[in-house]
Amino acid sequence: MSLESALDEYPKALKLRDGLMCQTRPLDPGDHAAFHRFFTSLNPPELLYIKHRVTEPDVVRAWCEGLDLGRNLPLLAWDGDAIIGVCTLHQSLGGWKRHIGRVSVHVHPKFRGRGLAQALVGETVDIARACSLEKVEAEFIGTQEGAIKVFGLLGFSELIRLPDYVKDMQAITHDYVLMGLDLLTDDEYAGAG
Ligand SMILES: CC(C)(COP(=O)(O)OP(=O)(O)OC[C@H]1O[C@@H](n2cnc3c(N)ncnc32)[C@H](O)[C@@H]1OP(=O)(O)O)[C@@H](O)C(=O)NCCC(=O)NCCS
Repeated sequence: MSLESALDEYPKALKLRDGLMCQTRPLDPGDHAAFHRFFTSLNPPELLYIKHRVTEPDVVRAWCEGLDLGRNLPLLAWDGDAIIGVCTLHQSLGGWKRHIGRVSVHVHPKFRGRGLAQALVGETVDIARACSLEKVEAEFIGTQEGAIKVFGLLGFSELIRLPDYVKDMQAITHDYVLMGLDLLTDDEYAGAG
């Protein structure tokens, strides 16, 4: 399977644990206003790992216009015309991490605790497999215990924890945690040698 054929399945309906039906699909350049509104709903510390200044509308517009889904694939969950969650698959497309996808996820505070992050990360891992990636990883600071739990439930394990390695916006140090999941089956490993 390829990225293109994996994306053919979208838009897809998703039923949350409380029964709410939402739609999932990849980001489209025309989504910039809804995407900006979504980012402004998050608490500032939760924006720490997003490299763009996403609280500025023009930055989000430029980001959406320059979208390359093969490199950064934001999978959105929608409730009507509002974005309620996003999970992004980042690919380096070359170099020594070309076989590893990086996954990050954010859920609108009002829609947390309904299984949305788990569903979006699960879908994104399926897309990573369709892209023939061999591993996926996710980065956290040690205090993101909820997020670490979400990824753990999906089979990710802690690969490394570096005590007091990273700094937040207030220059307070935190543990750096890298989690990972192997996507190859035992048979594929056996054939790889
Ligand atoms: C972490 C985050 C993505 C979780 O989103 P969510 O949709 O509420 O998560 P889910 O409902 O899918 O949670 C699945 C399970 O993970 C665990 N979990 C999720 N959030 C948790 C929290 N804050 N504390 C403890 N466990 C938590 C629970 O076991 C939960 O299952 P349960 O509700 O049956 O107990 C969301 O809180 C968020 O956007 N946080 C800010 C951004 C962030 O930290 N992103 C991660 C960086 S990659």
